Amino acid sequence: MQVHTHTYDVVVIGGGGAGLMAALYASKSAKTAVVSKLYPTRSHTGAAQGGIGAALGNLEEDHPEWHAFDTAKGSDYLGDQDAIEFMCYQAPEIVYELEHMGVPFDRTPDGKIAQRPFGGHTNNKTGKPVRRACHAADRTGHMILQTLYQQNLRQGTHFYNEFYVTDILFHEGRVAGVVAYELATGDLHVFRTKAAIIATGGWGQLWEVTSNAKTLTGDLPAVLLRRGLPLEDMEFFQFHPTGIFKLGILITEGVRGEGGVLINDLGERFMEKYAPTVKDLASRDVVSRAIYIEVREGRGIGGGKYVYLDVRPETVNKYARIDGRTRPDGSPYEVTKEELLAKLPDIIDFCKTYLGIDPMEEPIPVQPTAHYAMGGIPTTLKAEVIRDEQNTVVPGLYAAGEVACVSVHGANRLGTNSLLDIVVFGKVAGQEAAAYVTHADLPPLPADATDRTREQLERLLHGTGGEKVADIVSEMKEVMTEHVSVFRTEEGLTQALEKLQELKERYKRVSITDKSKRFNLELMEAWELGNMLDLAYVTALSALNRTESRGAHWREDHPKRDDQNWLKHTFIWLEDGKHRFAYKPVVITKWQPKERVY
Ligand code: FUM
Repeated sequence: MQVHTHTYDVVVIGGGGAGLMAALYASKSAKTAVVSKLYPTRSHTGAAQGGIGAALGNLEEDHPEWHAFDTAKGSDYLGDQDAIEFMCYQAPEIVYELEHMGVPFDRTPDGKIAQRPFGGHTNNKTGKPVRRACHAADRTGHMILQTLYQQNLRQGTHFYNEFYVTDILFHEGRVAGVVAYELATGDLHVFRTKAAIIATGGWGQLWEVTSNAKTLTGDLPAVLLRRGLPLEDMEFFQFHPTGIFKLGILITEGVRGEGGVLINDLGERFMEKYAPTVKDLASRDVVSRAIYIEVREGRGIGGGKYVYLDVRPETVNKYARIDGRTRPDGSPYEVTKEELLAKLPDIIDFCKTYLGIDPMEEPIPVQPTAHYAMGGIPTTLKAEVIRDEQNTVVPGLYAAGEVACVSVHGANRLGTNSLLDIVVFGKVAGQEAAAYVTHADLPPLPADATDRTREQLERLLHGTGGEKVADIVSEMKEVMTEHVSVFRTEEGLTQALEKLQELKERYKRVSITDKSKRFNLELMEAWELGNMLDLAYVTALSALNRTESRGAHWREDHPKRDDQNWLKHTFIWLEDGKHRFAYKPVVITKWQPKERVY
């Protein structure tokens, strides 16, 4: 493998919203490269549909304080409230910054940024849904991604696209470089750098039914785990309530924001039972569990494993009348087909393309879909990666967005807070890295810079054990879906760990057929599988370890939240082939944990 060397002040790993925002800020003063597995505008931020949360109050009373409280409550009180307050108070300013960069937000009749209701976002006086999600139809993430990419091009950020980062290099505990495999050539690249920002998104590919793109395999968290750094709160993985049945493709919560309702086989709007005040707009953990319960108790459609999401205008208008829903001017809320088509064009297209149905004429079959990692690489409020529960910073290493755990989402993220998180903490990471490199020198590279990467890739290229990547992937997804999803038990998690251990052993005997240098996707998929298995294992182990139910982590054998023993973050390390846990207290600023009622 040929090796090329480059030198930068800051290397951003990942070309999604967090990476591009970080790069935009770092490159104002520092020589900055983005190294991305994908062409940046294909990043998964482009799949975020319904909106970005900010208490602009454009259509009704709202306040950053309400947004912060809703986020803390939505997190089931596991989110760090200093980070939550910071994010929610930054939100209005950063949305206007995006607007000024060119994001084409939808407008109110008087020209302000339009806002829609979303799950768990409430008027804190009435408890009713509030219009807080700023949207660009149902393509909000796509628009933000395109805009940030264009701004980076304008500013001269360097891009290395379709480069897989396989290792991070350190010198005396500081970041010294980044190693990447170039898909087009099969060459290795070593980026000497003073600072690296990890912004590679989530790992929803661990499950069978997922809203996540094929590329979301958790490579960088797995790299750091092998480099002796911890991961935080890995047991908390969100299932979005409305993925297209079997396919998992996201159907935005914006559908329910516009008045769509969930219906079971008896034709009941079942969320009335589970969340009497906000109903279909409860937080995602609550809605996903409700769907599972309906299905388990035989009220899935035709006895199947799905329910209906009904956004036909007549249904929306019927329930709007029942709920007494009004428009901002106080007139009754009544939608037409044309309005819905304008507000939800992409999801209507997806349903026509993938299901052959028109949601204006028929309800959409949906099921919960693996969607979002609340845990990840632990960071400070300044996006600095930490090496332990005492917040010891790893100099020069930053993380932002879904891959990071700062922790604003705690045990359950509210919809629209992911787009907010990536721009707020992406910006912080870029600013902090740029400030750090002004006083840091360029560390020397270790002599064995590419050894780990070569050893991993060559083993896969030359393996003769006969195990197939596709078999191990599908068995991993099956066991994660069966035992490590919405509902969990000690017995199921133990079985999952046994199976995952077996798969890890079999992975050592993987063989691939494509031995070529150029565009060897089979090699990369084999490498990604190693990362997924490591993350699947720590997810299941952390879930077994946490003997309570909180947010997205629901233990049927421990069905109560236990603040006495578990109001704390989990840190997990991999050391000498063994896992070790430690804990960090949750930061509470204003809101003591209470029972969540929606
Ligand atoms: O439902 C959605 O549009 C997803 C948004 C999010 O995950 O924040």
